[in-house]
Amino acid sequence: MSGVTITFVEPDGTEKIIEDAVVGESLMNVAKDNGVEGIWGDCGGGCACGTCHVYVDEKWQDVVGKPDDIEEMTLDMVTEAQQDNSRLCCQIQVSPELDGVRLTVVPAE
Ligand code: FES
Repeated sequence: MSGVTITFVEPDGTEKIIEDAVVGESLMNVAKDNGVEGIWGDCGGGCACGTCHVYVDEKWQDVVGKPDDIEEMTLDMVTEAQQDNSRLCCQIQVSPELDGVRLTVVPAE
């Protein structure tokens, strides 16, 4: 099976299109493996640091879903840039449904 395509918009507006994301991998790891600017993943995916903050494109919000309570709490603590479409991308797993998803990287504060 071919990979899932994920687009990250880096802080300077560059679109990084990754076409071979592996199902089950976290989007934070996909971003780091592909050198996406602004995704640091300092806590290793533990939902504790907020350095994997992204905004989910509006039309993808229903597919990606909302943060759970723990993720919401971390977002509250680590960023003032939180919006309705904020997610910590270490908490999102690649799935076939996400093929084509577009995420904007929010630089850590
Ligand atoms: S990598 Fe730390 S919160 Fe996602």
